[in-house]
Amino acid sequence: MSVRYPSGGVPTLKTGHAHPHPEPVSGARYSAVELMPGNQRVLMLDQRRLPLVEAYETYTRAEEVAEAIRSMVVRGAPAIGIAAAYGLVVAASAAKGDGASYVEAMHRADAVLRAARPTAVNLAWALERIGKEALAVAAELPLERADRVAEAARKLHREDVAACRAIGALGAARIPDGATILTHCNAGALATGGYGTALGVIRAAHEAGKKVRVLATETRPLFQGARLTAWELARDGIPVEVITDSMVAHFMGRREIHVVVVGADRIARNGDTANKIGTYGIACIAAAHGVPMYVAAPWSTVDLACPSGEQIPIEERSEREVTHPEGTAIVPEAVRARNPAFDVTPARLLAGIVTERGIASPVDEAHLAALASAPIALQS
Ligand code: MRU
Repeated sequence: MSVRYPSGGVPTLKTGHAHPHPEPVSGARYSAVELMPGNQRVLMLDQRRLPLVEAYETYTRAEEVAEAIRSMVVRGAPAIGIAAAYGLVVAASAAKGDGASYVEAMHRADAVLRAARPTAVNLAWALERIGKEALAVAAELPLERADRVAEAARKLHREDVAACRAIGALGAARIPDGATILTHCNAGALATGGYGTALGVIRAAHEAGKKVRVLATETRPLFQGARLTAWELARDGIPVEVITDSMVAHFMGRREIHVVVVGADRIARNGDTANKIGTYGIACIAAAHGVPMYVAAPWSTVDLACPSGEQIPIEERSEREVTHPEGTAIVPEAVRARNPAFDVTPARLLAGIVTERGIASPVDEAHLAALASAPIALQS
């Protein structure tokens, strides 16, 4: 399904067209990713085309799902994890042979999905959880196997939405009424199973009646802030303005930003946090101005096996994303570019990490460890 908007105009804040899934787990009018009934097709909103075109694609093979993750049809750590889980489902549906050939097919699917993007730990986390279920049902009949894997993947998706809502409720308590909130990249419904992490906090504050405004950094080189965060918030009627990445210090210096909330791709055991490139710079600027900065992320983003930010793998993407924004060359032909997709913010620069298990604040190993065994703080 595809909805096109007039060229040249600012896109699009049309709403109300039908969701292609009859019962989206996201619980919203749009979803980053869903598993279609029948368990043979993964549905994704092609985020590369937003906000100009709202188009859904479907994928029937794990290799296609992996390519959609790599090419950022779907992006954002939790959404990548859910997409990978559904990638295993379509692989299980396609594997009609005996138990041994099914197990082999599932290992192949796992390997191709795991290699899609390295930084967001949610990808490996989801593959491990659903892969375990997939192997546990290897002795069942083909249809039964696929149903069981699909059930586990949908459960993982539902839990992510519940986690986002819990994060939103906990984080909203830290947002003052009347605050202008800075956010970076997109940590919204499009980056998760639904509702969002950083945008979940903002949504919950707005739903609680607080008068909040948002400054969204455009987020070079792929403009997730300008294209996706602005699209989501405008659809919800939450006041949002886009600024270029280089304007952050200007607005902090003028005391126009009261709090920063961002998402995360991987949080190390000591609280060091990998997130979209530019987050570390924002954290330095916020610290210099005494502005509190929160990371909002589900527990699936916490990697207790990773001691500190130094061990987090940082994805290097094609330099073409930097040299050719929207396909147009802006750099002289012979000049090379660098394109790390993420950076690491040291724990000491963060006021808190908001998870569905509670808020780690101050951010350090002891406070994160205390949350490891805590129950989910709030249910949706
Ligand atoms: O490269 P992307 O768009 O996948 O990067 C996404 C981010 O860095 C998000 O801020 C992060 O995944 C948190 S999403 C809830």
